[in-house]
Amino acid sequence: MVRDRGCGEIRESDTGAGISLAGWVFRRRDHGGLIFVDLRDRSGLVQVVFSPEVSEEAHERAHDLRAEFVIHVSGEVRRRPEGTENPGLPTGMVELYVRTLTLLNESAPLPFPMEEAAEASEFLRLKYRYLDLRRPELQHNLITRHKAAKVIRDYFDEHGFIDIETPMLTKSTPEGARDYLVPSRVNPGQFYALPQSPQLFKQILMVAGLERYFQIVRCFRDEDLRADRQPEFTQVDLEMSFADREEIMALTEGMMQRLFRDVLGVDIEIPIPRLSYKESMERFGNDKPDLRFGLELKEMADLARGGSFKVFLDALESGGRVKAINGKGMAGLSRKELDVLTEEAKAFGAKGLAWIKVKNGFESPIAKFFPEGVLRQMAERLGTDEEDLMLFVADREMVVHDVLSRLRLEFGTRLDLIKPEFRFLWVVDFPLVEWDEEESRFQAMHHPFTSPADGDLEKLLALDLSSAGPSGAHRSLFTDVKAKAYDIVLNGHEIGGGSIRIHRRDVQKKMFELLGISEEDAKLKFGFLLDALEFGAPPHGGIALGLDRLLMLMVGASSIRDVIAFPKTQKAVCLMSGAPSAVEPKQLRELFIRTLDIGG
Ligand code: AMO
Ligand code: AMP
Repeated sequence: MVRDRGCGEIRESDTGAGISLAGWVFRRRDHGGLIFVDLRDRSGLVQVVFSPEVSEEAHERAHDLRAEFVIHVSGEVRRRPEGTENPGLPTGMVELYVRTLTLLNESAPLPFPMEEAAEASEFLRLKYRYLDLRRPELQHNLITRHKAAKVIRDYFDEHGFIDIETPMLTKSTPEGARDYLVPSRVNPGQFYALPQSPQLFKQILMVAGLERYFQIVRCFRDEDLRADRQPEFTQVDLEMSFADREEIMALTEGMMQRLFRDVLGVDIEIPIPRLSYKESMERFGNDKPDLRFGLELKEMADLARGGSFKVFLDALESGGRVKAINGKGMAGLSRKELDVLTEEAKAFGAKGLAWIKVKNGFESPIAKFFPEGVLRQMAERLGTDEEDLMLFVADREMVVHDVLSRLRLEFGTRLDLIKPEFRFLWVVDFPLVEWDEEESRFQAMHHPFTSPADGDLEKLLALDLSSAGPSGAHRSLFTDVKAKAYDIVLNGHEIGGGSIRIHRRDVQKKMFELLGISEEDAKLKFGFLLDALEFGAPPHGGIALGLDRLLMLMVGASSIRDVIAFPKTQKAVCLMSGAPSAVEPKQLRELFIRTLDIGG
């Protein structure tokens, strides 16, 4: 069976040519004498026509064609009659008059009509993923992903990076999520972990003298899933020796520039702007701000002190913050709508949401607590116009930032403020550690191998950690120590993160001390890295980019599921294959595993 061309490739210049095509029946329309079929393959769609005048037999058999039947046709390309052209279609000037029709395969009735596949339930689309993937949009996503991977490989190859595979059956890597475990049959009771990232191995490759490593690599993390999180996902992972932060950031920027130019034809301006972690938190309330719109968070503590609203004053008294954002043009909200908004803020963790309408002066149940001058200053700081709505949260800093940043994002969408553009950002100068309230200990903000900033290294080494108890004042000493870590953010998504690593044994030891990881524990978990660091480890650093997230943003999808061929659901289930699933008792016995009765 020969096909000369892709369905989507036929043009007016082919008029008169004899051509063979193969593909799927997308739509069939019976117009009495003529039968029209939209024939689809990966390249696109073309109209084929069955006319009894060309072939009575083909025309007769075309009556039986159904959606998604697979056929081969050959015939003659003709220009469509005047007035029947479809300028919306690349092949819209022509049609193929069929002389011979071969039915290659039939299709069972479809679980959803292909024309409305995009609107079918996600459950059905994932269960019949092969049908969903027939949609041009998803095919385009996968093709774009392929192109992106190729550009990325070429780029790193040109820059002297070597693609090296690292183990999938390995020891737990400390990226902070839960591990997926794999039992070892030949070592009863022992488990491998699937890698959360190749972090330890890529550092060891630097000790091994490979100097520049990269890999497009699958990573596994057992964490709560969201639209931009999958249990298995892909990183563009790299590490280089004798490089500083600037070099790694510049290299990453060069890659982004090439990627967007070659794949999307979009010019990215470099260098990419930078924000310190602190500034990002203050202005946007999170460390991955969407810069495509304003509505920045504003400090209100000083102005709150000029009034007598107890909620604000109490929050400040107990070391908290009062900040606000401008709900642009939202002064028209009814009491009921404001209550809904307040409930939303509460769901995000706030105790309440104070509001002041800018509407013929100031309208608010709390306005009476503030002198007119203070209200005016609040409005001025938020840059309000008539009909705007000032929204305040008073609480612990973390809550204030979290709630206001979420409201900000929601308003960005709701008020249609988000411009269709790519806004990259580096977030730098992260604290080295953060205090984990739950576990009552410091956690590495990035991972435990991230180097402290140059000026802070001596500070860290000099710290007496024995007194690093949970007292707030003392803690801030430690959170003042900055890390040589950097995140790259695109349109409000963290698309990558990396750092310069600790290559000195004494610093690494101090870091474990700070994190409350005992020497014994460290040896057990990543002793092999610590051993390697003993043998002439070069200064090194790297970064990993989330390829799925990057692609999601490049193609304008709303979930990374749309750029992954076979994704999993929110509950980490593959609806198509049915994984995960129970296994035979025999299989478990072989692995020396007994499952607990989980009841329920
Ligand atoms: P990090 O943990 O920041 O760094 O991961 C790098 C990037 O991977 C993406 N990512 C994910 N994408 C989809 N689903 C997930 N569950 C998921 N988790 C992470 C994000 C993230 O920015 N070893 C370090 C890198 C380094 O220091 O070189 C690391 O893994 O876009
Ligand atoms: P109350 O004095 O509790 O009736 O609250 C008055 C207004 O302040 C209401 O709109 C509450 O939603 C709001 N509010 C209460 N607690 C907070 C808080 N922690 N931050 C901001 N607003 C709050």
